[in-house]
Amino acid sequence: MTSTITSKPAIGASLAVRDAFKIFKENEIQTVALRGANLEVKPGEFVAVVGRSGSGKSTLFSLLAGLTEPTAGRIEIDGRDITNLPELERSRLRRDRIGVTFQSGNLLPYLNALENVELPLEFAGNTQARKRAKDLLEEVGLGARQTSLSAQLSGGEQARVALAMALANNPGLLLADEPTGELDTQTSEEIMQTLERLNAERGVTVLVVTHNPELAARARRRVSITDGVLEEVKP
Ligand SMILES: Nc1ncnc2c1ncn2[C@@H]1O[C@H](COP(=O)(O)OP(=O)(O)OP(=O)(O)O)[C@@H](O)[C@H]1O
Ligand SMILES: [Mg+2]
Repeated sequence: MTSTITSKPAIGASLAVRDAFKIFKENEIQTVALRGANLEVKPGEFVAVVGRSGSGKSTLFSLLAGLTEPTAGRIEIDGRDITNLPELERSRLRRDRIGVTFQSGNLLPYLNALENVELPLEFAGNTQARKRAKDLLEEVGLGARQTSLSAQLSGGEQARVALAMALANNPGLLLADEPTGELDTQTSEEIMQTLERLNAERGVTVLVVTHNPELAARARRRVSITDGVLEEVKP
């Protein structure tokens, strides 16, 4: 994969999770997805987040992205408490500082790779959306498949398009929720290398959920979640 980093360097974001609880209530059923979670991450760190299915990884990411609020506790981004921010300010923070790739994938199947990346850029008012989308696809190693419908891309290629979208705002914090989910070893390796390069060359703070122990082992820092509690994994 070639490295063409064209945009201005982002400065990595810091984050903190302090005694965070997230309790979902559906009818009479309560699920405690996070139960007093604590975490501090410095700018430019690369952290692998591991844990069994249902342990609270995606819940943690949606709190960090400001997409949901904790039931108790607080979330800080760049030292600023985002827990009780008005929605407008939270969406501004997401726009300016945070990139997310969702576990379920966020591509529109009837658009091609380039259009998928371009659309949110246009919505955000970028007047050079097409050029920027092309640059981003180059950056994630997908320069050659820009006009393929996303439904026709392989899992690994789709993961790269999702990554390009998450990088569109040049984020300081990248939250990658299982970007290598169903992928074969070689492709997972390439995605992981792209994340590592973004971290090393741009200083982007990266949190990545992975079920793959070998990929997790490459991260300088590992954090595990068990039943909604975070714990540092000793090297
Ligand atoms: N919106 C919701 N409403 C109700 N329960 C939820 C909701 N989102 C998550 N949960 C529950 O919270 C718990 C944690 O879910 P979460 O998605 O964070 O797990 P995960 O670690 O990401 O799992 P996986 O590895 O399967 O993606 C699970 O028991 C899940 O069913
Ligand atoms: Mg999940």
